Amino acid sequence: MQVFVIIPAAGLGTRMAAGGAAGHAPKQFLALGGQPILVLSLRAFLKVPGVHRIYVAVRKNEIQRVELQLREHNLLEKVSVVEGGDTRQDSVRNALKMLPAADDDIVLVHDAVRPLIDPATIERTIEAVARHRAAIVGVPAVDTIKQVERTADGAIITSTIPRERIVLAQTPQGFRYDILRRAVEAADADGFAGTDEASLVERLGIEVAVVLGSARNFKITQPGDLALAEFYLRQN
Ligand code: C5P
Repeated sequence: MQVFVIIPAAGLGTRMAAGGAAGHAPKQFLALGGQPILVLSLRAFLKVPGVHRIYVAVRKNEIQRVELQLREHNLLEKVSVVEGGDTRQDSVRNALKMLPAADDDIVLVHDAVRPLIDPATIERTIEAVARHRAAIVGVPAVDTIKQVERTADGAIITSTIPRERIVLAQTPQGFRYDILRRAVEAADADGFAGTDEASLVERLGIEVAVVLGSARNFKITQPGDLALAEFYLRQN
């Protein structure tokens, strides 16, 4: 059983750019503690002994630049750069096609923009996938969760969802290769677009286990998030 990793990194970072302060580089290429965010994410996975190979999906016009950058950081031995797509699902699908995986191999998908993932959580995710076939990292909700209807000037609450039943999905999200491939194919056939891989697998009626994540493993999304990530990084 081999472990492959897909890192979708083809986002344009529009929410980051909209904030202004961080400039126009997609967030996965911004520096954190002196290293590109993507490089930090890659290093976390390369520390896990079972990881066989990592596929990073980037925009077509960035493939050469990212390859060069990864060569400078001596990371190309176990990392391939492949073409991403217009949505996260497109990026994962494109990368999945490149994997020389067998049906019972494990595929982990991890957001490039969660560079503070720790190797121990990655290992626990791999163990959970080996046991359950599908597992994601998630954190319990601490806030009270409201369902709303959007209105022109905001939102109106329609109900309160008991927070004991809520988990906020993070990554990595891991699956046996055949399950993820079937889930992506089924979503494509049905025109279903998900914001994570688990939602595609859930549609097949397959149970997905949850591994406890942490607040540190947050998704760098808005300009203020970089300062928070720097803070966490200094705690190491
Ligand atoms: O924008 P979002 O929060 O969904 O991004 C999550 C991850 O998916 C990021 O690492 C981003 O680069 C990636 N992504 C991608 N291709 C897209 C959009 C997002 O690989 N078209």
